[in-house]
Amino acid sequence: MDSLDFPEQRFKEILDKSSELVMARFKELPDLKGYCDFPQKEVEHWFDEPLPEQGMSPEQLLDQVQEKILRTATGNLGPHMYAYVMSGGNQMAILAEKLGATINQNQTKWHLAPALNEVEKRVIRWTAELLDFPVASGGVLVSGGSAANLTGLTVGRNIFFEKQDIRKKGLFHQQPFVVYASEEVHSCVDKSVELLGIGTDHLRKIKTDARFKIDIEALEQQIELDLTNDLQPFCIIGNGGTVNTGAIDDLEALAEMAKRYGLWYHVDGAYGALAGILDSLKTEYKGMEKADSIALDFHKWLYVPFEAGCTLVRNWDTLKRTYYKKAAYLDTELANEGNRLEYNEHYFQLSRNSKAFKVWMTMKAYGIARIKAMIQKDIDLTKYLNDLIRNSDDFELVADSKLAVSCFRYIGAMTSKAEIVEFNRRLMPQLEKDGRVFIMGTSLKGEYAIRACFINHRKNKKTTQYLLEVIREVAHKLERKTVSVL
Ligand SMILES: Cc1ncc(COP(=O)(O)O)c(C=O)c1O
Repeated sequence: MDSLDFPEQRFKEILDKSSELVMARFKELPDLKGYCDFPQKEVEHWFDEPLPEQGMSPEQLLDQVQEKILRTATGNLGPHMYAYVMSGGNQMAILAEKLGATINQNQTKWHLAPALNEVEKRVIRWTAELLDFPVASGGVLVSGGSAANLTGLTVGRNIFFEKQDIRKKGLFHQQPFVVYASEEVHSCVDKSVELLGIGTDHLRKIKTDARFKIDIEALEQQIELDLTNDLQPFCIIGNGGTVNTGAIDDLEALAEMAKRYGLWYHVDGAYGALAGILDSLKTEYKGMEKADSIALDFHKWLYVPFEAGCTLVRNWDTLKRTYYKKAAYLDTELANEGNRLEYNEHYFQLSRNSKAFKVWMTMKAYGIARIKAMIQKDIDLTKYLNDLIRNSDDFELVADSKLAVSCFRYIGAMTSKAEIVEFNRRLMPQLEKDGRVFIMGTSLKGEYAIRACFINHRKNKKTTQYLLEVIREVAHKLERKTVSVL
């Protein structure tokens, strides 16, 4: 017992068993429920056990994993997930995760993971190329969209206020500075603004038009007002696809406004930036390439399993100017000789796994043309759902978009708006209980609506029809229940 390793043959048997579990999951895919409705108390109970002093047989452990974790997992992989922004993952990335864990590399310094550091640099280069970002641009793989926005805004803050030496002096005695975004901006931006010491009082949420895009005139008026009040406008954030409805701000107008006022321009493309590579959406995304920083997510529209986000910055050196810290044991002399990129000097994290590995394998195995076709399919299926809704008597479409989000309501025979909104709110827990599809709602201009997000290459027209069939069936049940209570 001089290491934790199994003898070779044993390890192979265990690996084979784990592969069987993977295959079994894929076999179940078409029938995979969106949600498995087990009461929280029961789930708690499955894991209510003492600290394991002694180990157990790997086969028995894998059986437990199958029973308690795989069998009950939310159906992200399958075609019936519509809630939040949950992509279905892809098979090549599963291999990357397994192989990556095998070699257990740390991206922090080049010589700790030479090949995978180059892989990360290549992924950044390819992504910049896809988004028409300049050759001097750089970036880093992060955990997801929230981290990608925080990173972009951190770079923005540190570079914008570099002359004031805020890395050393902090924000004390600074005239308050102001960030601008639409009222539809993702809540992670609020969190970032809080973490960066700016405070949400200085995050101006500008009203949106009927299509949920930022009102450019209102934005300009707000900037002027803040200038009059001796505040420091600092950053404009454009939405490259909002989470609620997929609205894409006028990114060109925002770029122009940021330039005119000399502000940092950040685009939150966590949901939508990768859709901007489609020919059908190029015009919508015009102006994103002018950003100083962009947040995007590979665990969304590259169908890579969680987690994989990315921050791109217009000039690679701004990352180092934001994050570099000297430490004796991280000696950079070797790096200087070989012109190595030491990622720990370009990002907050020191130890970091290679999220780029699964992104790289995904891009290489499927090719961008096929990925684009899948993104386009998601968008086309959303349009198909919208048409089904428009042509039905018992649903109403509330918001559609150029991306793959549809907001709608079940109306049945109801006529009062208040009654419809309230019914749809009550419908949601019933849909969760039913579990055949996993869908959630949102609030649009203060009114509740069901929200379906298509971001899974395994969906098709049949699964889309099934979504409405299930909602209709559960709604009928709820109607009957409501009548019998009355
Ligand atoms: C527009 C937008 N920004 C940011 C995020 C946060 O991304 P993550 O969940 O990867 O942190 C999301 C998530 O859905 C999003 O849609």
